[in-house]
Amino acid sequence: MIDADAMDREALAALLRWYAAMGVDRALADEPIDRFAQSARKAAPVDPPAPTARSSPPPASRQPPPRAPAAVLSQDAAAAGAREQAARAKDLEELREKLAAFDGCALKNSATQLVFADGAPGAKIMIVGEGPGADEDRIGRPFVGRAGQLLDRMLAAIGLDRSKVYIANVVPWRPPGNRTPTPQELALCLPFVRRQIELVAPDFLVLLGASAAQTLLDEKEGIMRLRGHWRDYHCGDRTIRALPMLHPAYLLRAPLKKAQAWRDLRTLRHALDQKYGRDSAGVS
Ligand code: URA
Repeated sequence: MIDADAMDREALAALLRWYAAMGVDRALADEPIDRFAQSARKAAPVDPPAPTARSSPPPASRQPPPRAPAAVLSQDAAAAGAREQAARAKDLEELREKLAAFDGCALKNSATQLVFADGAPGAKIMIVGEGPGADEDRIGRPFVGRAGQLLDRMLAAIGLDRSKVYIANVVPWRPPGNRTPTPQELALCLPFVRRQIELVAPDFLVLLGASAAQTLLDEKEGIMRLRGHWRDYHCGDRTIRALPMLHPAYLLRAPLKKAQAWRDLRTLRHALDQKYGRDSAGVS
């Protein structure tokens, strides 16, 4: 535990800045937990039984219980709970309630709130991103920070806005420090976002970034290869056309890639024109 009295203000401020730079931007509890000490205790060898004249196995009641499956089982149980809860939701509001009540994904513990969706629930185009950032976590709506503002400009460039699209993420809680969600977190949240897509029933899916594209298309290929190519997303008895694209947060870091994003936006606009007619600047 840090002795704040022993540190001057400047040293404390420097420590906080260092924490923030490392991605530690919130406290989860009042007291720190020493995970190294915990795992060292767990790994400590159990005292061997005292040698006896005849080496016989210890009585069954004294044998240590089998280890390991606990964590796996709890992930399995959480995944089964996610599938069951998601399948039960009859509409988007119920899905939001079930997701808010779901405790199987640890991301919920560090997030401020659930970030479920934005835009028009009846939209023909659904956009799926990775997960909320700090601004989304604070406000409770997806894509409201800098990446979201760029997304708005990208949509405007092809005649769309939030009244014509529905926006969600593959994980609805902010990963701490904006890290990429783990495969386990993605798998736990997948039944919910799949049900969300089923309930919105869009004609087109836009998958922003590797997490959304790989998770929803069950793909290992990188986003640089996936982007710009139409894929089929299977949803119940429907097949939805899905277009992976570069994530706007990535475009903020790599502005030269905007040329590729522009090409992909034109690919999307072209498909909309073909389906709804050239004069439908916006999709109703
Ligand atoms: N990035 C995402 O993937 N989703 C958001 O909601 C915000 C930023």
